[in-house]
Amino acid sequence: MDSRPIDDPVLADLCAYIEASPSPFHAVAAAVDRLVAAGFLPVDERLPWPDGPGRHLVVRDGSLIAFSTEGHRVGSGFRIIGAHTDSPNLRLRPRPDRRRAGMAQLAVEIYGGVLLNSWLDRDLGLSGRVVIRRDGLPSVELLAIDEPLLRVPQLAIHLDRSINAEGLRLDPQNHLTPVWGLDPDLGLAEHLADRLDCGPGDILAWELMTHDLTPPTVLGADRSMLASARLDNLLSCHAAVTALLRVVDRADPEGPVPMICLFDHEEVGSTSASGAAGPFLETVLERISLGAGLGREEHLAALARSLCLSADGAHATHPNFPERHEPNHHITLDGGPVLKHNENRRYASDAPGIALVVEAARASGVPLQQFSSRGDLPCGSTIGPITAGRLGVRTVDLGVAQLSMHSARELCGTQDPARFATLLARLLVE
Ligand code: CO
Repeated sequence: MDSRPIDDPVLADLCAYIEASPSPFHAVAAAVDRLVAAGFLPVDERLPWPDGPGRHLVVRDGSLIAFSTEGHRVGSGFRIIGAHTDSPNLRLRPRPDRRRAGMAQLAVEIYGGVLLNSWLDRDLGLSGRVVIRRDGLPSVELLAIDEPLLRVPQLAIHLDRSINAEGLRLDPQNHLTPVWGLDPDLGLAEHLADRLDCGPGDILAWELMTHDLTPPTVLGADRSMLASARLDNLLSCHAAVTALLRVVDRADPEGPVPMICLFDHEEVGSTSASGAAGPFLETVLERISLGAGLGREEHLAALARSLCLSADGAHATHPNFPERHEPNHHITLDGGPVLKHNENRRYASDAPGIALVVEAARASGVPLQQFSSRGDLPCGSTIGPITAGRLGVRTVDLGVAQLSMHSARELCGTQDPARFATLLARLLVE
């Protein structure tokens, strides 16, 4: 086992952040820890908005918005970095217990665009949130079990001889159900009750999901790559938090408000109360303006001065499948942050926005790459076009190049995460 320390502090902190964040709820909690340590105060959306300038954060379920009006002018608009806290995975059903062939299993629902094969034969933990009745009142509690509890065993090749020639076919209803023991008395509620120190009947509801237990690993003879779960999109969440913390002490009395939004539910289309297609960001922006004494007219002018950087993973060119990528737009791991273009508006980037990023990258010495998808392959999308469409704010889609997107374990370069944070920090204050 290679246990050499990671020299780059941003990369080391990214690995710690990913390990602390097996679920969107934990990704938010780990970001809150870092922000609170830098003086950010949590705001309760149900209560009156705080008066006057300050560093604030708002948590709504698996989403987080943080901003600083301290030393900035709300009327100058907002510099917003958007990213997402969720990753494709296997999530427990409400009545998960089942037994087959003498084994205890937990039934799962597939969340998002999972590369199903990547979840086979991995030791999986369990995480998320549980609502427990404590002293007669419901209490929402985070749970992270970083122990090998579950596994989805592959079918032996002797029982499917055609698999390598004809491809692996996995039925999401039947073939991804993890096993988690042999004991005939195993039950999820009883197990959770033991862990959470309550009675099985006090567990009212849960949102629980599986995660691969393999820690992030620096990889390659030259240690130039990082293999990890959830690079899409905890890498961008981490870069956003890092960028905000780097600029928050820098006052600019005429400058825009630096802000980050980490949204849940991107992998399933973003339509939810806390997702990018919901009203969360819009509501917070309006309340910041109202709190600063702006009227609606001034608020709309502030939005017209704003810029959104939509940060999400980008596809590096795969060395075994170069034909899947657009010629002249090859993307390399560690080639620098990637600007994402799509004329059909699957990405929101436009020429004036791209120009801002190009200039910021030049000024901060960060290389850039340009992604354009093939005409014969449908292009992915992200929160950029959604926020642009809701707010009318100029938006640029950009991110760090990776391979194996949506695998249980993805791959990126070791220099790009720090470069991305540097570029985003510059864009927050430019
Ligand atoms: Co993503």
